[in-house]
Amino acid sequence: MGLRKLLDAHNPLKMVTILLLGGVVGSPAIAQSPTYGVGRTPTAEELGRMDIAISPTGDELPPGTGTAKEGALLYLQKGCIGCHGAEGLGGLAPALQSKQGADVNVWKKERILPLRSPYATVVWDFIRRGMPLGLEGTLTPNEVYSLTAYLLFLNHVIPEDQALDKQNLPTIKMPIGDEFGKPHEFKLNAPRLKGYPY
Ligand code: HEC
Repeated sequence: MGLRKLLDAHNPLKMVTILLLGGVVGSPAIAQSPTYGVGRTPTAEELGRMDIAISPTGDELPPGTGTAKEGALLYLQKGCIGCHGAEGLGGLAPALQSKQGADVNVWKKERILPLRSPYATVVWDFIRRGMPLGLEGTLTPNEVYSLTAYLLFLNHVIPEDQALDKQNLPTIKMPIGDEFGKPHEFKLNAPRLKGYPY
């Protein structure tokens, strides 16, 4: 049976054969195979809902704006307080504010995302993607900008009155500075990490 005939087939078994052949032959005719009759093309709206990764440059950020003041209110209204505690302290979920003073080196402080993240865009991305736990994806861009501003303000990263938006969020200097993820100096036959046995 010629490839063309195979391609016309609608039998699932034959489809598997085509897929296998595709792997082996790698023919362009197979790369352009017709529809398999399975599923459907996602709509732009569906793709948009999944295509939410925000890079350090912030290029993918949606328009919107928000302040720490608005964020403080949302922190109550959206139930963040129930899990993370008042002002991000004392809840069952991880603390969102450091208890340590400004004199303490950031690496000696607790592992808190709005403090230790290398980029403020990561905080924004995490909140939109993962919070509030159980109701993920329900926050509007303005709400995420506000909550990000609130948590950065609590950790003394930005002043209380700074409105965050697509333009200034990627420019925020996080306390970790350039210290994040610095590669260790490589020496032949030396342990890759200090104190690591191999
Ligand atoms: C039902 C409980 C719950 C609610 C409500 C909730 N969170 Fe969380 N949150 C968690 C848990 C649990 C984690 C830890 C998740 C993990 O590490 O994978 C977390 C993690 C986080 C982190 C990252 C903390 C870190 O340092 O790694 C941030 C930021 C955050 N939440 C913000 C919020 C905001 C803002 C809201 C409200 C819109 C919210 N959370 C609502 C339970 C909750």
